[in-house]
Amino acid sequence: MRFTTVCHVTKLILESTCIDMRFYQEDRYAFLTEWYDPTAALLRRYQLFYYPKDGSVEMFDVKNQRIFLRRTKYDEIHQEDLFVGNRVNVFSRQLNLIDYGDQYTANKLGSKKERTLALIKPDVVTKIGDVLELIYSSNLIVTKAKMTKLTWSQAADFYVEHQSKPFFSNLVQFVSSGPVVAMELMGDEAMSIWRRLLGPADSAVARREAPQSVRAQFGTDGIKNVGHGSDSLAAAARELEFFFPSTIGHGPSNTAIYTDCTCCIIKPHAISEGLTGKILNSISAAGFEISALQMFNVDRANAEEFYEVYKGVVTEYPSMVTELCSGPCMVLEIHGTDSPQTFREFCGPADPEIARHLRPTTLRALYGKDKVKNAVHCTDLPEDGVLEVQYFFKILDG
Ligand code: TYD
Ligand code: MG
Repeated sequence: MRFTTVCHVTKLILESTCIDMRFYQEDRYAFLTEWYDPTAALLRRYQLFYYPKDGSVEMFDVKNQRIFLRRTKYDEIHQEDLFVGNRVNVFSRQLNLIDYGDQYTANKLGSKKERTLALIKPDVVTKIGDVLELIYSSNLIVTKAKMTKLTWSQAADFYVEHQSKPFFSNLVQFVSSGPVVAMELMGDEAMSIWRRLLGPADSAVARREAPQSVRAQFGTDGIKNVGHGSDSLAAAARELEFFFPSTIGHGPSNTAIYTDCTCCIIKPHAISEGLTGKILNSISAAGFEISALQMFNVDRANAEEFYEVYKGVVTEYPSMVTELCSGPCMVLEIHGTDSPQTFREFCGPADPEIARHLRPTTLRALYGKDKVKNAVHCTDLPEDGVLEVQYFFKILDG
């Protein structure tokens, strides 16, 4: 892990200053976290404590060695969000969980968490919603996602381990024949769970031997077999780096086309409620073409900038900003000549309560909670469609 050395030092300080777990009767989980303070342009480091009994949190400022946030009940954090590598939102601060704060927490929460690469091949990109439904129902979460189209040589690189096999050139040809969606899945035993979900490589065999599997349900044959899953932790690390490199701008590019398009954002609350698959299914079922798809972690400054036009106009502006940067969101480019208007109608009135009365089949009626957590953002003015898509796929994906 990148932070190991610093963390080690910090941990020593923490272990000597904080109350030892042995004196604790109540369950308490500890994490080292980092928060980027945009005002000071500094990474600040806190220890975060979570008390599952009453869902309260407490923060300790590592540098200044003092309590930063007294123990406070906070409903927005759940135990399943607490693992190293994830990002949680505590009172509008996005905290990166960079290490476990003590052995107890590492043993209890960290043991089986894995990340793996799931690649959705060109044959089923339009069924991505169905595949996501199966992923979420297996207790895995999607932490990164990007639609991309690989060149022949990128696909050959990705499948380098198979280069001497007879099926290599067909496989590479197929995987580079259209858009794919690469995803980072995370969860307990993510690698084997995703491979089990996929089923045997040959879709016909999958239909015989694992009829519930993704390949049995959506695959065609041995090559058009829905997806790929890493087969070892080392492969997962290499394959994740291939699609989501730590150096920005070096991975395969997104598929945005920036013409005749509108922008849709599946908001963080909907992602964390596991609604992504359902929303994507509804969008596809209504006949809209998703021409680009990517998950983003929007920081506060960018959320403010993106929503700038609503500032002083819509009373919910501050809460909209907070919602947009409260966790990962998924941004879509919806393609079609009249997409801004028709897609906006399909999203429904901004207030889900009103939507449920007037337009019960719209996205917001089906998946929204309130005016801020209303499942999706969509471009308001047709002339802004391209600009909003560019904001994410050109500027933030830089
Ligand atoms: P493999 O790694 O064996 O399967 P999996 O995808 O389950 O890890 O094979 C990689 C891909 O190569 C597989 O998804 C489809 C293709 N392939 C063929 O086209 N023909 C074959 O006989 C095999 C074994 C694989
Ligand atoms: Mg394989």
